[in-house]
Amino acid sequence: KLPLIIDCDPGVDDAVMLMMALASPVLDVRAITAVAGNVPLPLTSRNARMMCDLMGRTDIPVYAGCPRPMVRTPVTAEEFHGESGIAGLDPFSPETPLAPDHAVTVLIDQLRAAGPKGLSLVVTGPMTNIAAAIVMAPDIVENIDQLILMAGADTEGGNITPFSEFNVFADPHAAQIVLSSGASATLLSLDVTHQVRAVPERLDAFRAIPGERAAILVKLLEAANRLEQKWKGKSTPMHDPSTIAWLLARELFDSRPAAVSVETNAGVRFGQTEVSRTQDGPHTWVTQADADGFFELLKSLVEAA
Ligand code: BDR
Ligand code: CA
Repeated sequence: KLPLIIDCDPGVDDAVMLMMALASPVLDVRAITAVAGNVPLPLTSRNARMMCDLMGRTDIPVYAGCPRPMVRTPVTAEEFHGESGIAGLDPFSPETPLAPDHAVTVLIDQLRAAGPKGLSLVVTGPMTNIAAAIVMAPDIVENIDQLILMAGADTEGGNITPFSEFNVFADPHAAQIVLSSGASATLLSLDVTHQVRAVPERLDAFRAIPGERAAILVKLLEAANRLEQKWKGKSTPMHDPSTIAWLLARELFDSRPAAVSVETNAGVRFGQTEVSRTQDGPHTWVTQADADGFFELLKSLVEAA
């Protein structure tokens, strides 16, 4: 099993990502750390715990991390995720407790305890928690095995500004700290997540699956589709779930090596990822996804959940 910490800001698509990760028999989710992003921290940390409840994993520790980005003013995305952060799911008070430690301390402690390349990270929100951990304890970088980020945009253009993707725009300074830390990251950007959309015909296969979890998944995707239609006129992209697909079914993707940096100066390109044209650099930039293959994987995970 792959030992893993998930850092996220649920978020409807973060919620789908958590369903996939917690349903997978090959991922060992050691902790979930929450960050401010789509909605404020009290909601993202509650929403992560609601998903643990719904997946029958009240044993997974959930920690709250940074309540705001490093430098810029906070930005949220209720128009795509609802006021609660998980449109399509009625909020409830979860049984899964909020663990007492700070997420950044937990990231440092668990990475140090794991040893060289001992623990992987999936990051599907602004990178504030990861950057804070790296600034406090640079030695943890060599203990990161896989660093999988839902972040950035290149050829596809942005989703929150013409150039910038939400997670990077919401904390560009943190993203730049992470990408220049010496760690090799894999970036699932809008270039690839916009290829994987929950078009209505794809949802029918999920309606046929019995059980509460499949029904919840359908409600999440329907709600995300309504909001994406309202603002962008399209079906919802599978941003954050693509990180788990990358871990479980790499054959669904094409990728290339790249150097990636972030525009942190104020202006129209604030929060844009700059991606090298040459095929070198420390990071992996994912370029293509097999959307049908993704939905097959999602279906098999939900059927087994
Ligand atoms: C990213 O922004 C958030 O709104 C989503 O949860 C995803 O992580 C997509 O740009
Ligand atoms: Ca997210």
